Amino acid sequence: MKRILSCMQPTNRLQLGNYLGALKNWVAFQDEPGAECLYGVVDLHAITMPYDSAALAQATRETAAAYIAGGIDPSKSAIFVQSAISAHSELMWLFSTIAQLGKLERMTQFKDKAGKNSERAGLGLFAYPVLMAADILVYKATHVPVGDDQKQHLELAREIAGTFNHKYKEEFFPLPEPVITGAATRVMSLRDGTKKMSKSDESDYSRINLTDNADAIAQKFRKAKTDTLPVPASKEEMKGRPEAENLLTIYAALAEQPMEAVLTQFGGAQFSVLKQGLVDISVEKLAPITKRMAELMKDPGEIDRILKRGNEKANSLAEATIKETRALMGFWS
Ligand code: TYM
Repeated sequence: MKRILSCMQPTNRLQLGNYLGALKNWVAFQDEPGAECLYGVVDLHAITMPYDSAALAQATRETAAAYIAGGIDPSKSAIFVQSAISAHSELMWLFSTIAQLGKLERMTQFKDKAGKNSERAGLGLFAYPVLMAADILVYKATHVPVGDDQKQHLELAREIAGTFNHKYKEEFFPLPEPVITGAATRVMSLRDGTKKMSKSDESDYSRINLTDNADAIAQKFRKAKTDTLPVPASKEEMKGRPEAENLLTIYAALAEQPMEAVLTQFGGAQFSVLKQGLVDISVEKLAPITKRMAELMKDPGEIDRILKRGNEKANSLAEATIKETRALMGFWS
């Protein structure tokens, strides 16, 4: 049996990279026979960077609304809130006795987020990947659909699972498979094709938010950075032109067309033509999601009911794992 688990942080608004790199692939798993899906809103991860406590609960609801608007059906998949399932934090502590400092120090996300002053970074930011391993393994998940930037974290989760199994019980935790698929596993910033599109980038022009309306989408694509040559007509011509590659990749992913077809359609044209194409396809694909999200947010009580149901399902699975884990590790009970 396949058990699918993935999560997003309720930090700011979801952006196009979250959708194309992750959410779109989550939806596809729901209809796979024999696949059980759990999708979490990881609020404990969101507090590892400065955040607004007055806005956290609402951001959690909004993230859940984005999941549903993006195609996650709460009658098929459990949507849960990480902080409501205490087994995540407990398993993280147990794993922190296994995770090696040297490995954590090599995590590129920590280096990026801590910046120059890593001495002053919080322990939670450093231990972020250990909590992520607990999120996955507490459900004994077999498959984890994520964007390309999470590869290293998944590798660590596999190592922790392997070390635990070796120490306490062979094959207790499955080694979770990262599922990094689709046309856009790494969507880049619209302002800098070498930087990942991110919810936390200072410039709102760097990203398309799932809450952006048609005007905002049009403005952002029009201002997107490009180079002075015409749109590349082949993969060869795309090399060394990260902004062009990014725009073409976004188009291919949204239009669900192979890159070759997109290169044929836009190759040799001015960037303004590609940009107009991007505006049209983005509005077509994203407007229904944005609209549904806004409708859902009008009834937060209903979102809370969905989350409570998801939490119950998640909690019963997680409690079973934590009980077995305690016994294997030799705790008094
Ligand atoms: P978060 O919220 O930063 O990102 C959520 C998902 O979106 C993907 N993603 C992207 N994919 C392509 N291009 C981009 N520009 C882009 N930006 C974000 C991320 O890869 C991710 O799949 N650490 C996780 C949250 C997490 C998690 C977990 C995931 C916590 N526990 C357990 C899976 C399983 C994260 O990056 O969240």
